[in-house]
This record gives sequence, structure tokens and C-alpha cells, in this order.
Amino acid sequence: MSGLGARSRPDQAGRLGKDADMRLGVDYYPEHWPESRWEEDARLMQEAGLSVVRLAEFAWSRLEPRENEFNFDWLDRAMSALHRRGICAVLGTPTASPPAWLVEKYPDVLMRDDLGHVLGFGTRLHRCYSSENYRARSRAITEAMARRFGRDDRVIGWQIDNEFDRHDCTCRACAEKWRAWLRSRYGSVDELNRRWGTVFWSQEYGDWSQVPPLAAPQCGTANHNPSLILDWRRFQSENAVSFQREQVEILRRLSPGKFVTHNFMGLHDSLDYYRLAEDLDHVSWDNYPDSGPAGVSHDLTRGLKGRAFWVMEERSGHTGWTYFGGSPRPGELRLWTWEAIGHGADAVLFFRWRSCLYGTEQYWQGILNHDAVPRRRYREIARTGDEVRTLAKVLDGSTVENRVAVFNDYENIWALQIQPHTSGFSYRAVQLAYAKALAALGCGLDVIGPGADLSRYRLVVFPPLYVIRDELARRIAAYVESGGVAILNCRSGVKNEDNVCRTEPLPGPLAELAGLEVADYDAVGGRSVDLEMSDGSRFKTSVWCDVLALKGAEALAMYRSGYYLGEPAMAVNRRGKGRAYYIGTLPEPAFHKWFLGPILDELGVQRVRDLPEGVEVAVRHKEGKPILFVFNFTDEPKLVPLQGGRLDLLSRRREDGELELEPFGVRIYAV
Ligand code: GAL
Repeated sequence: MSGLGARSRPDQAGRLGKDADMRLGVDYYPEHWPESRWEEDARLMQEAGLSVVRLAEFAWSRLEPRENEFNFDWLDRAMSALHRRGICAVLGTPTASPPAWLVEKYPDVLMRDDLGHVLGFGTRLHRCYSSENYRARSRAITEAMARRFGRDDRVIGWQIDNEFDRHDCTCRACAEKWRAWLRSRYGSVDELNRRWGTVFWSQEYGDWSQVPPLAAPQCGTANHNPSLILDWRRFQSENAVSFQREQVEILRRLSPGKFVTHNFMGLHDSLDYYRLAEDLDHVSWDNYPDSGPAGVSHDLTRGLKGRAFWVMEERSGHTGWTYFGGSPRPGELRLWTWEAIGHGADAVLFFRWRSCLYGTEQYWQGILNHDAVPRRRYREIARTGDEVRTLAKVLDGSTVENRVAVFNDYENIWALQIQPHTSGFSYRAVQLAYAKALAALGCGLDVIGPGADLSRYRLVVFPPLYVIRDELARRIAAYVESGGVAILNCRSGVKNEDNVCRTEPLPGPLAELAGLEVADYDAVGGRSVDLEMSDGSRFKTSVWCDVLALKGAEALAMYRSGYYLGEPAMAVNRRGKGRAYYIGTLPEPAFHKWFLGPILDELGVQRVRDLPEGVEVAVRHKEGKPILFVFNFTDEPKLVPLQGGRLDLLSRRREDGELELEPFGVRIYAV
């Protein structure tokens, strides 16, 4: 991408370089506290081993109290107080909360709902990416910050905005941009009519001005044309990407050598995260686990650029705006930190330093409570900080390298949200069923996007490739021919990229690879259907049942109930040096472990066997040697049947055989 070359680009192995050594940090809001408190906060942070803070991402009204009157002195003094304690800064551009003066002067900054009502000032994210005034003011504050701090040694990088999301706005600027986007995609209205099939219900357009924005009110209860909705989602996603790019370009120019990131939201799916990640040096994300593992979100985040990432916000206390979530139990903050690192994070920052006295988030707990007395959570983070420092050298330069991947594709997520088929069916439901089983089988996984190089993997799971381009179907076939194992799932090959149904028998361009056709299908929703596997095992299935007509593939499972009793539900087809499985239904969780375990073993994929429920592992590699992380996500001790000798890197003790892992415990081994 022109103009976006960064000096701090990570190398191929995923290391972020000197400015991003393994660190713990915290999200700090000095503007919420008297200046007299800053020194004490910095001292306590230093004592807890926190060495980086994120600052200012919601401070626009303090940084630019009136148009073009910038006030950076307070931020400068806060940075100095922190820096005296060895704490460096990631600066956030504050564009997610335009101040009142801005909104008053440029009302077109605000979004409009489906009835054209203005969505007013009062919370945050009150901005429309299409508003030229909003973009101009966002560029201005970014440029002013970058001129002041862009070459400042106390700053190691930038976070752009905060948690980008999609807005279904109906303002005039959005309508104009939408039509311009359609024009560049289709060239002529006739072409759009042809590809969207607007002949249906006499929707043919004679002019671009007639194409409505998605959210505009329409008559009746029916939805818009699915082709229009999918394009709208693509357009809105690109609109956020182009908004972000304006800031990236400014920072590249005025702040050379500092990284540029953004805080993503894990499994959130309103934008195409691969496109959003393209312009950044590394991706960060915000992790607020309720309980249990967040491994797949870490894996997805790492996969956005295929390299180390940051956790920019990690839960540090109970959640709560108006209602409270439970408090992290002793050990969980440490567990979540090491979980992130095990899955490839190079930094974890806790949200936030101290619970705020006022505002919407006054009950969203920080490391310190309102009273600022360091207690249990502070001590646990300090202990974790010590551990991270102890292992920083060992982990430095280590990478996550897996041979099993699960595909992730936003267009397909959206297309199945637009037409969810039946209750219980979604792209994520299928994706997570496999991801959870792989984690339970002790196997590390990558979550990869449509642009990924498949040849790195022994096994790739493809959740429904519902909207599919021929080019991807060809790549998957080539991957299998040369020895890869592909697991295809029901509702694949159904539509083309215009979200229009294809005419070939299902699974469309994948039928030859799968060696079968879908002869019939049944949306069973919550009803239960019986399956019998080729070895006699039985599982229940529900939600969706494809009835397969085999054309060379070998049956793996038959239906044992319903009108398709005795017909194949799953099959495998050998092609070239590899094979393609086709799973025509959504079986119960026990199936996935039963199915995947033997395939992993046959492919020689490294894994830790017989993990007890609630225990997961992660592996980083350094100089070809594995560093094994073992996590207990439960509040009970667990016996983990590890094999062979190993060195506990924290206690420096040698161990052998079974491991007794305490509740919420973590071990890190050289094996
Ligand atoms: C995050 C957001 C933070 C804060 C936090 C707690 O999603 O980025 O600014 O709002 O949630 O509510």
C-alpha cells in the first residue's frame, strides 16, 4: 500500500522488534485524576512491573478544547511522570469521542437512524465515517498530536481510534458514498441490475440515485435483496478501513519508526478485520473473558497478520456499567495474561488502572478500586509482572507455529447472518465447534483468512464456504492434490460473490473435490437426528442435514432416523496426495473429538493427549524447540498426564510424568 511503509514492521518470524519486547502495561486516564496523583500512580505501576501505558484515546475535549486550539501540555506532563518511572506510552488518537463543540459546529458528523433521526451527543462513537467534516477534524487532531509527539522517545507507538465498528447510517454522505462505491464496483447500473437480479419484484434501477442505502426505511416486512445487504456490509467495512487509513498515513509521515495499531474485538464480526489489519504494523485486541478460555480469539487475532499481537485491554476486575459481572477469581488475571502470551501476544495491558469516579464506566473495575488501595488484584498482576520479566528473554523471538488451521471469512459470516437458514445455524457455530474440539485435543491451531497460504498446513477446516469464488475453490483443490486434508462443511458452494445462488449441484465448485453431490437437504433446527459412523459409533445431530449422493467419495456416516434413514451424511474423497472430507450436518460436540483425534494422529500433528476437561495448552517455538504452556481454566485442581521430562521455566525445577495443576494454574515448560 503506497505511503504506508513503516520502519518498525515486524520481521517474517513475527517479532515486533525492540520497541515491543514482552511487556505488561495498563490503560491509564490521567485526565480523570488530579495531577497531584500522577506520581503516585506511576510509582505503583512501576512496582507492579507495568512498563507501558495507553493514553488519551478518549481525551479529545482536553486535547482540543476549541477548534484548532490544542492543549498537549497536560499529556506531556503525565508522560513525563510515567517516564521517570521507566514507563513508555502508546498514544491513542481520540477520534471515537468527538467533543460537544465539534458536534455543535458540524452537525453532519452525527449518524442518522433508519427514520432519518439524528443520533445525538451523549455517549461515544457518535460519528459517521462518511462525514467529510468529521474526517477533516479527525485528521487535524491526529496531525497535531503527531507533530507534538511523533518523534518523542517516550512514545513507542500509536493506537488509532478505539474498537472500530459498523454503523448503518442513513445520512446523505453515506448514501452518496455508497452509490459511488457501487459505481466503482459495477461500472453501470445495468451491470448492477444483472448481478443483483433486480428483475425480482421489479426492483430494476434506472439510475444510481435510485439505489437505497440499507438502513433506509422500506415498505413491508420483507428484507432487502440479499445482494444489496452483502454489498452494504462490504461498503461499510471499507468505509471504516479508509477512515483508519487517513490517520495511518499521517502517523507514518510524522511519526516514523513508531508502530501503528488498533484495538480489535476478537470474534466481533461487523468489519472485515483482514482489511482493517492490512495498514497496521500489528493488531491489538480487547479481551474481556467471562470465564473459560479465549484461545480462539487470540488465535484469530494473531492470524489477522500472521504475527505477534498485543492485548490492549485485558480485564482487570469485575465488568459493569449498570449491572456488575463477577469478580475475577484469584489466579484468573495471571492465567489470562499467560494465556495471551502462550497464544502469541507480546504485550498485555490491563483495562484500566483505577475505577473511575464518574461517567458510564464508574463500575467497570480497574486494577485499583475507587479508593486506590493496592489489594488482591494489584498483587496478582505484580506477581505476574515479575514472572513475565523472568521469562522475557526466554520468550523473546519465539513464535507460534501450528500445522492445523480453521478458516475465517467475514463475507461468509455476513451472508449467513443475512439469511441464517434455521435456528442454531451460523458460521461461528460451525467454526467454534471445530476450534473447541481441537483445543480439547491438545492441538494448537491457526485461524486463517481467505488470503492465507494453505500449503503451510496439514489440515484445514472450512466452515461453510457458502459464498465462494471459483478461485478459492481451485486453491482448495490444489491444496488437497498436493497432500493437504480439507474438511468441508454443509452449505458450501451455494452462492457466488454477488450473494446469488449458483446453478451447479451443491456443493457447487467443490463438488468434484468432495466426490459427491447434495441430493437433498433438510433444515432440522432443534430437532434431533441420529447418525451412525462407519465404525458403528453413534452421535446425535441437529440444525441442518445434507443428504449426500456419492460420486466417488466413501461414506463416513449414515443417517439413522428421519426420511433419509440409511443415506450418507458425511464422506471422504481421496484426491491426489490428500483428501477432502465433507460433513453434511452439525453433530453434537462429542463427534468432533471422535472425528478429529485420529486424523491428527495419522497426520503426525503434535498434540498433548488426554487433557482433562477445562485444561488447555499452547505452544511457542524458539529455535525449533517448543515452549509448552499448560492452563487450568477451572476452579478445581486437575491431573494432566504429561509425558516425558521437562523443565518448569518459572520454578527452574525438572519434572516428569503427571502434573497436578492447581485451580486456575499455569505452567510453562521447556520440553
Ligand atoms: C472496551 C472499550 C473501553 C471500555 C471497556 C469497558 O470495549 O474499548 O473503552 O469501554 O470496553 O467498558
